[in-house]
Amino acid sequence: MEKINAVITGVGGYVPDYVLTNDELSRMVDTNDEWIMTRIGVKERRILNEEGLGTSYMARKAAKQLMQKTQSDPASVDCVIVTTTTPDFHFPSTASILCDKLGLKNAFAFDLQAACSGFLYAMEVAAGMIQSGRHKKIIVCGADKMSSMVNYDDRATCPIFGDGAACVMMEATTEDYGVMDSILRTDGKGLPFLHMKAGGSVCPPSYFTVANKMHYLYQEGRTVFKYAVSNMSNVTAQIAERNGLNKDNIDWVIPHQANMRIIDAVAARLQVPIEKVMVNIQRYGNTSSGTLPLCLWDYEKKLKKGDNLIFTAFGAGFTWGASYVKWGYDGK
Ligand code: UT7
Repeated sequence: MEKINAVITGVGGYVPDYVLTNDELSRMVDTNDEWIMTRIGVKERRILNEEGLGTSYMARKAAKQLMQKTQSDPASVDCVIVTTTTPDFHFPSTASILCDKLGLKNAFAFDLQAACSGFLYAMEVAAGMIQSGRHKKIIVCGADKMSSMVNYDDRATCPIFGDGAACVMMEATTEDYGVMDSILRTDGKGLPFLHMKAGGSVCPPSYFTVANKMHYLYQEGRTVFKYAVSNMSNVTAQIAERNGLNKDNIDWVIPHQANMRIIDAVAARLQVPIEKVMVNIQRYGNTSSGTLPLCLWDYEKKLKKGDNLIFTAFGAGFTWGASYVKWGYDGK
């Protein structure tokens, strides 16, 4: 039997219209454009500020564009995986809402939670499902409305994050393209450094938790930074080495957009020039699950069939990893 690969056949994306600039942030908290640009590298971020709209709204916009671009019949989609840390509701899943909005009648859908590494994890799960031969066409969507859990009184976290969503279509092929290899890791010892204190089953919402601002993202930035640099750099070097990839044959590195200094460190470790690294942190900030597919969305036109791509991410948990993808079509 011929080997089945899982290849990306299209990308769709969406970012909200509202642009929150560093100047506006400087009027909200004690910060300034120079500090944010040198320490993080974010110039502006998009915010979904219309009342009543959540993550599924952005995911739906991105997925509709994806369906259009790939000319997909809704009946042909087998599965939808939405990776998010900011679902519309605790339950049901954001993926089930997306499934309904897209009119998918033959699909099953579920959310996958791996914080900022979500898209990498979901791409690996979808690839395995396709390679097994049981599923042919899967939408993988990374979407987060980070503004729903960012404390805009906390200058240490509010400049970092933004809202956005992007999706890829993954399909079966017998050609030698698609997800070639992945190294994914989890270390639950990261919990104290990056989490939300309340709202889950350990500490359900109450007047106390709201009054004490326990529903916001909590981060010990310096510690997270150190783990992010070392784990992302090590795992990308590892995946490159075991697939015979180096600075000469890597076409693109697609790193999680958390901090420009982390992106630079990963590129330096691989000795890849920054021109070969997808970067849009300055326009969108850290959209968590959205960063990797939003990079693809922005750079799609530059991609060529056969390009060697290395994705890498790091997030709460801690979760991290890297994937080697051989790109399956010329940019359009
Ligand atoms: O996506 C999930 C994974 N997350 C990450 O990868 C994030 C990793 N962490 C980071 O990106 C960085 O640690 C931050 C961007 C969060 C912070 O940068 P840093 O260089 O680690 O700054 P710091 O926390 O060590 O703070 C340095 C100084 C402090 O002042 P003092 O104590 O030295 O006087 C802060 O109070 O900068 C101050 N500061 C600010 N100053 C102006 C912190 N935030 C701000 C701000 N504007 N927004």
